[in-house]
Amino acid sequence: MSLPGSDATALDDLLREVADAIGTPAYVYLTDAIERRLSELRAALGPWFSFSYAAKCNPNPELLRWLADRVERVDVSSIGEFRLAQAAGWGADRASFTGPGKRTAEIVDAVSGGVGEMVLESLREAVAVDRVAQSLGRRQDVLIRLSPARVPKGFGDHMAGRPSPFGLDVETAGDDLRRIMALRHLRVVGLHIYSGTQSLRPEAICENYRIFIEVFRSVCEDLDLRPETLVFGSGLGIPYHDQDNPLDLMAVADGAGPDLDALKAEPRFRDTRLVLELGRYLVGEAGYFLTQVTSVKESRGTRIGICDGGMNNHLPASGHFGMVIRRNYRMHRVGGGAPAEKIDLVGPLCTSIDRLATGVSMPRIEEGDLVAVHSSGAYGLTASPLHFISHGPPHEVLVEGARFRDVTRGWYLGQEADSDRGSAQDPGQTHQASDVATVGLD
Ligand SMILES: Cc1ncc(COP(=O)(O)O)c(C=O)c1O
Repeated sequence: MSLPGSDATALDDLLREVADAIGTPAYVYLTDAIERRLSELRAALGPWFSFSYAAKCNPNPELLRWLADRVERVDVSSIGEFRLAQAAGWGADRASFTGPGKRTAEIVDAVSGGVGEMVLESLREAVAVDRVAQSLGRRQDVLIRLSPARVPKGFGDHMAGRPSPFGLDVETAGDDLRRIMALRHLRVVGLHIYSGTQSLRPEAICENYRIFIEVFRSVCEDLDLRPETLVFGSGLGIPYHDQDNPLDLMAVADGAGPDLDALKAEPRFRDTRLVLELGRYLVGEAGYFLTQVTSVKESRGTRIGICDGGMNNHLPASGHFGMVIRRNYRMHRVGGGAPAEKIDLVGPLCTSIDRLATGVSMPRIEEGDLVAVHSSGAYGLTASPLHFISHGPPHEVLVEGARFRDVTRGWYLGQEADSDRGSAQDPGQTHQASDVATVGLD
């Protein structure tokens, strides 16, 4: 189980009921588990940070709606995400807008729509935002994204410390920063760094925050800026594979606390709001991808289970989302059992790269069995080539306490108008699970 303390039998009962009532393939999101994760985050890092949810990791409209009452801010990376967040109840002023490829039309829509902060990734973008703000007769709040010269070892992906499309390289940012500060229709309210994702090593995360702090200090001194906001890209990772250990969040708090305290003690930063921007750590482990084995075959000594959802629904679990060496996600056969037997699991696509597991050990899989892939709440559906081979979308199911409902996004079903409004498909019937009281709870 990837959610320590949750009840495996209750979880499996729930997954079975979801499969019966709604169908497979399906993503199942457990809000109780997100709630618990949020409490852990607030207990460990709340003394320094407020939180911003990175919508890119899971922009399901009903999940966004659920989060809107619980998390302070949202970060969007396209005008589509901005609209989804607004439709889900996030006031525009609670949104920041990152992304290196913002188009003019997106900038116009975001600024005229009252976005809280545009996160500037370049001087060019600053000029574009300034022009748009001028034409609308307003001043736009902005954060400047910086790209540090170094990212410590221990992150799954680096967005800085090498040639990067993200933000201004700190080594050469001086002139560009001064020019941005001089743009009259921008109000520079702070700085933003997101340089590394998916780390399970507290010491790497703390070292990275120390790099951020040094960069923030030196840039703010150079510009004589008393920032209202400093955004720390969290880098907090989750276990995906059997060998992964969960991140020790208290070790991050203990390691970074003194540096954050020292920063906040400086007059320049006394009133600064520190924001931790994150996605997967909040929702990743609360999501399961549920797929049914449609047939099993023996081929040249290997047992192969063919599932109703694969790479088309869950690209990262297939190993094609930045994994250098393909490793199986954690997964289990719903219903457990013994003894374990090795099997390959593939999806329904006509390509050999559509693979969910190689040689995974599970109780013997038979046709009709359900398999749950863990750590699937972030970068699952949203990162997948849904249209490839036109199998149609998987369901998305939101579980709140003992109730669950189908929250599949409408536009997957050809209701394009919904995508413009950013609204969900009619969420449909709410189901009552027979016993999920303990799922996702300690
Ligand atoms: C700018 C930015 N913010 C937030 C995130 C969320 O990262 P994670 O889901 O690893 O917390 C990312 C991930 O790539 C990002 O690029």
